[in-house]
Amino acid sequence: MSDALRARRSCHAVPGSNPRFLEKAQGLDSDQVFLDIEDSVAPIAKPDARKNIVEVLNTGDWGNRVRTVRVNDWTTQWTYKDVIEVVEGAGANLDCIMLPKVQTADQVKALDVLLTQIETTMGYEVGRIGIEAQIENALGLINVDDIATASPRVETIIFGPADFMASINMKSLVVGEQPPGYDVGDAYHYILMRILMAARAHDKQAIDGPYLQIKDLDGFKRVAGRAAALGFDGKWTLHPDQIAAANEVFSPLQSDYDHAENILDAYDWFTSEKGGAKGAVMLGDEMIDEASRKMALVISAKGRAAGM
Ligand code: GLV
Ligand code: MG
Repeated sequence: MSDALRARRSCHAVPGSNPRFLEKAQGLDSDQVFLDIEDSVAPIAKPDARKNIVEVLNTGDWGNRVRTVRVNDWTTQWTYKDVIEVVEGAGANLDCIMLPKVQTADQVKALDVLLTQIETTMGYEVGRIGIEAQIENALGLINVDDIATASPRVETIIFGPADFMASINMKSLVVGEQPPGYDVGDAYHYILMRILMAARAHDKQAIDGPYLQIKDLDGFKRVAGRAAALGFDGKWTLHPDQIAAANEVFSPLQSDYDHAENILDAYDWFTSEKGGAKGAVMLGDEMIDEASRKMALVISAKGRAAGM
């Protein structure tokens, strides 16, 4: 079964048509790498991209990174060949397939069936390869709960801001930044929160998509920081400089991590036979209860996933 708890603070995008980038990505410090056959690859280059990806998955050194391949969406002519070629060719060295522009649960189910057939034919463990679902238009967002629960393979729900902005006619060309003229809050708040609610309700990871102004690291940190503050697990990176920033933004502060571990220790004592008799537990001047234990568990899990 797929593993929804892998660290994904930084999800690094690499065009499958660029052998130099595919080589370089192996030395980068991202939690995840996703090798793309979709929008960063021209139609004419897609056949070669599939071949390059199979080759680097099988022969490259990817360490502990989550290895994902983004295929083309089901409304194109390419999806079936993307999945069959990549999974038959490198299914043993691949963790997830990312499906872009998902609009309905049936699209996830179709990918699930195809993966099961390939895994069975190839003698792979059935169900090991996960699915990452990109929400990139209004219909996808409306159906996000059904999409999240369409298959046990679904590990992440990903916000695709560029396609989403285009699909709802947002009056802006700068992905992730506020559209000019909207000055009453964060134009992305509803979308991010809706995706986060679906992810948390169904035990999936919530991932924020790309920030295209790759020279503007402060802008990247600001936009990533908004998603991290809400509770998102990670963000795409398009340039090596964005990776360290994402790893930092989506890790807890060391002081918060230490504090969370102290809360958990204090709570352990509270639930012991001796401590429980006291009725409540204090950590310095702070009262600890079951809800604070749950908050501490979240920070602690994020910190441990980040290697703290
Ligand atoms: C990513 O695919 C996006 O459209 O933002
Ligand atoms: Mg997109």
